[in-house]
Amino acid sequence: MKVLDIGCGVNKVEGSIGVDAVKMPGVDVVHDLSLIPWPFEDDEFSTVIANHFLEHCADVVSILGEIHRITAKDVGKIRIRCPHYSSWNYFGDLTHKTPFSYRSFNHFTYSDDPTGYNYYSPIKFRIESRKLLFAAPDAKLNPWKWLGIEYLANRFPSLYERLFAYIFPCTEVQFLLTPIENRSDYNFSTKASVKPAFLE
Ligand SMILES: C[S@@+](CC[C@H](N)C(=O)[O-])C[C@H]1O[C@@H](n2cnc3c(N)ncnc32)[C@H](O)[C@@H]1O
Repeated sequence: MKVLDIGCGVNKVEGSIGVDAVKMPGVDVVHDLSLIPWPFEDDEFSTVIANHFLEHCADVVSILGEIHRITAKDVGKIRIRCPHYSSWNYFGDLTHKTPFSYRSFNHFTYSDDPTGYNYYSPIKFRIESRKLLFAAPDAKLNPWKWLGIEYLANRFPSLYERLFAYIFPCTEVQFLLTPIENRSDYNFSTKASVKPAFLE
């Protein structure tokens, strides 16, 4: 049961192997994760944690490919936390490159993409759970939760993101994913309005 914390900084999750571009206390492997391949084996980890790291990546799709490669298929877990695109925290850091939404991983699933654009990448995950949070997980005060706004946003995430995200901005979005094997027999693009040439 090996656990990897990518972009761990000084807050490495207990019991994990920490990797970061910068050598700091707790960092076990120093590696610039934009350089691929990463120095880890296929299916090496039962869990990969990415706490406030993916928003620092310009090419998240390549990073997802590496996360997918090194996590045990069908049983492994990928725990992601990142700032929501509506968050003051997203725009407050000049090193942030990619914003995230509730829907960010839909195109990387076989079943959760109502648009049909899941042919963009062969890398696929199962979305086990996801959650919009209106305060940091360790915050003592979360009035948005008391007012029921956090509940309603998670109950109706598309409505929330379309109409209310900039009125009641949330803080972060969390995902629990499982990497799954590529299904060679899967019929892509039954829904997308524009089919790429390679699917004709
Ligand atoms: C906001 S900090 C998060 C640290 C920690 N995970 C936490 O939750 O407190 C982002 C971390 O990602 C690291 N990072 C950013 N880009 C990186 C890259 N290309 N390769 C490796 N680490 C990177 C930074 O050095 C930094 O420690």
